[in-house]
Amino acid sequence: MYDIHSVRKDFPVLDEVIYLDNGATTQTPVPAVNAMNDYFFKYAANHGRGAHRLARQTTDNYEDARDKVAEFLNTTPESTVLTKNATESINMVALGIQWEAGDHVVTTLVEHHSNFLPWMRLKEKGVEVTIVGSDREGRVNPKDVDAAITDRTKLVSVNHVSNVFGSIRDVEKITQIAQKGGAMVLVDGSQSAGHMPVDIKKIGCDFFATPGHKGLLGPQGTGILCIKDPDALEPTYVGGGTVHAVTTEGYELEPSPSKFEAGTPNIPGVIGLGRAVEYVQEIGVEDIEKHEKELTTDAAKRLSEIEGVEVYGPKDRTVVPFNVEGMNPHDVAMILDETRKICVRSGYHCAMPSVDMLGVEGTVRASFALYNTEEEVDSLIEGVEQITMLA
Ligand SMILES: Cc1ncc(COP(=O)(O)O)c(C=O)c1O
Repeated sequence: MYDIHSVRKDFPVLDEVIYLDNGATTQTPVPAVNAMNDYFFKYAANHGRGAHRLARQTTDNYEDARDKVAEFLNTTPESTVLTKNATESINMVALGIQWEAGDHVVTTLVEHHSNFLPWMRLKEKGVEVTIVGSDREGRVNPKDVDAAITDRTKLVSVNHVSNVFGSIRDVEKITQIAQKGGAMVLVDGSQSAGHMPVDIKKIGCDFFATPGHKGLLGPQGTGILCIKDPDALEPTYVGGGTVHAVTTEGYELEPSPSKFEAGTPNIPGVIGLGRAVEYVQEIGVEDIEKHEKELTTDAAKRLSEIEGVEVYGPKDRTVVPFNVEGMNPHDVAMILDETRKICVRSGYHCAMPSVDMLGVEGTVRASFALYNTEEEVDSLIEGVEQITMLA
């Protein structure tokens, strides 16, 4: 097990606040910020576009970051496209597949809007969308996915872990079921990558989308889309960086990943992401998972013991969603911040259908990362106990 106190030194803001909003975005460690500073101060140039030394160093370090990400997720650099966030990654799939009227998409009720709206919008093109339900704890039965698949199903798109309930899906099984039915599979790994081991080859999915700024500890403005078969998708954008030959008659696209990365990318962000992923690897994702699980389980158990507090999600949840009876979740979050500098998320978590299913006006969500401590859980529990006395 890693030394949490030395890890915390790499996240100076943790001296100021109790940060339990890791499901939204995580803090970025000093070595990753230093790698970005090095880019700005020592060798900033554009990527893949020059023969001079700074351009070469930039390109090498950018591609090195891609290699690290690909290795960490057990996929190839060629299939690892660097994007600005998970939302962009998912939209690239929705916009890149050649849809025909009557094609069919299967998704679930318990998705983030970013894995929901892109499919809803396809209805304008005559694509049918089936939304598979879940139980009250946010669990989706793979058999229900199976039952929803038709011979027109082109894509099944599900999250790996729900951001509202912290429920984990059996994405390997869902992938097998969908591919057997002739469909492709997109896994939204926004809440899994960096929090638990993710092996894209083992999952076998066609597309895997994740932000760089959550469990992977990279900076905001970074995301990843892993594409098994680059021919399955048209690039969303074309332009500089995506082509190797252009005439007045036409153009020839570069192979993947270049054909999917038009224009100047977020070079410092990607370099920071590469270093952040290395940082996660140095600590060990299995140990991170174990640590976060301990905090999550403990926080959920202790919160559920407080009278007037309802905790949602299954027993093996990865985040802790809850409500205090008689209190608006935003008020709970504000009081936790004002009284104890505890940062938690409140509201609909960009997943209105999921929260609506609970019949509440939002939830409070505490979500943990590798740097959180038992003392911070203690403070959360004491803070919520005090709030219940106000309610
Ligand atoms: C499950 C899930 N999918 C997609 C997203 C969107 O991620 P991003 O903001 O990087 O686009 C999030 C963010 O919270 C998420 O939790």
